[in-house]
Amino acid sequence: MPEQTSGRVALGAGGTVPAIEHCDTTAKWFMISSVSYFFIVGIIALTIAAKFCWPSLLGSVQYLTYGRLRPLHVNGMLFGWLLPADMALTFFIVPRLCAVKLYSEKLGVATAVLWNIIVLGAVVTLPLGMNQGLEYAELPMGLDILVVIAWLMFSYNIFATIFARKYEAMYVSLWYIMGTLVWTAFVYLTGNFAVLFATGTNQANLNWMYVHNAVGLIFTPVGLAIAYYYIPKSSNTPIYSHRLSMIGFWALAFVYVWTGAHHMIHGPISQWLQTISIAFSVMLLIPVWAAVYNFFATMKGQWHQLRESVPLKFLMSGVVFYLLTCFQGPMHSLRSVNAIVSKTDWIPGHAHMALLGAFSFFAIAGIYFTLPRLFQRKLFSEVLANWSYWFLMIGGLGFFVTLWLGGFWQGWQWNNPAIPFIDTVKALQPIWLVRFFSGVLMFAGIVSFVYNVMATILGQARDEAQTV
Ligand code: HEM
Repeated sequence: MPEQTSGRVALGAGGTVPAIEHCDTTAKWFMISSVSYFFIVGIIALTIAAKFCWPSLLGSVQYLTYGRLRPLHVNGMLFGWLLPADMALTFFIVPRLCAVKLYSEKLGVATAVLWNIIVLGAVVTLPLGMNQGLEYAELPMGLDILVVIAWLMFSYNIFATIFARKYEAMYVSLWYIMGTLVWTAFVYLTGNFAVLFATGTNQANLNWMYVHNAVGLIFTPVGLAIAYYYIPKSSNTPIYSHRLSMIGFWALAFVYVWTGAHHMIHGPISQWLQTISIAFSVMLLIPVWAAVYNFFATMKGQWHQLRESVPLKFLMSGVVFYLLTCFQGPMHSLRSVNAIVSKTDWIPGHAHMALLGAFSFFAIAGIYFTLPRLFQRKLFSEVLANWSYWFLMIGGLGFFVTLWLGGFWQGWQWNNPAIPFIDTVKALQPIWLVRFFSGVLMFAGIVSFVYNVMATILGQARDEAQTV
């Protein structure tokens, strides 16, 4: 059982359960494929950012137009990089927190193969224009069905491992992981299947419920599970409060699902629905503060460790981005702010701070920490790892900040009917140029991370294995 010391909980520190030889084949498969897609989709990301600056880039080849590549970037990053990276870390974390082997490595590897078929299917179908036209739910129906099957396989494996656990108490990461398994099923089925039975405004409403909860009930809980595991592990410090972590978990479970309609503020939906979504958006501050306070309190007296530890740098910067994103979200759901920033460049600025700045940073930290233990090799280069952090940090900040400023300015102009729309497009060109060059820095961060991971995997085995 996780050891309890003066309200703090040390992970997997119970001395009563014998050490276990973990096989980790599934975690390795998921890690290698997610990291590879991070690089490939990074190229697509840079291409679409460049198309804002040079619209005639790549000519008029239909497969390479902005409308085909944008969904490829979004789905590729969400379902090719981030979710499988989180799944890899889940396959690593859960057996260790339960002190048992993974229920079935064979089932895990089959899930990884199926997941790769889905991602490769997306790489073929989306550029061909086979797209359902629903945001974040663009994948064709056949691939949606495969996602459901793969998710069932993944969930079965993880739940069966948790049911067989040797520790009676469950560390908060396990709660968040179980939440992710259940909520993803619900959110994905709603956003990709139930939505097809609705039309017009109701369909838009359901779609926004899906889009928001794809972030809030899929990437947030699994991201927090990872942060709750790796912050104490990397700093070798027990988590500050298990009770506070549970308050955060249940608050998230209760609050998140009601917020989707804040994407339709000032839109054709009832005022009461808009007001409810605003009220719940503001209430989101509760689970966010609970988690962030817990992370900061855990690091009290330990901040000096950030100098030496790349995983901790990524983790704690991710926590700050998580806090900022979740402060920004409630604020721009307010009617007055929303009237300016909704549908502008502000939104991709906000989306990237959440999915790159917070949750990808957590996943990168988890991979940097886990990789040497998984492959029993020293990390190829600590220096390169530091570079990857600074590239992603500086590039990311440039990206977020210019999009917020640009988005605010764009919304300000849209609210003035005297300004012709085309002038608002021309005005944004310098912003898009800065975004492109920030994207180049972010891509340099992705390349140095991916190279480091691959070089570690292909490198020489260390004499002494690192402890897990
Ligand atoms: C080199 C790094 C990246 C670059 C240059 C980049 C660029 C872009 C661009 C140009 C867009 C279109 C924005 C628009 O239509 O105005 C976009 C959208 C998006 N990107 Fe990225 N991106 C990068 C990394 C990532 C990562 C790592 C993730 C997630 C893990 C991500 C998730 C998204 C999402 C979810 C959207 C849709 C945002 C929305 O809701 O409108 N991106 N990206």
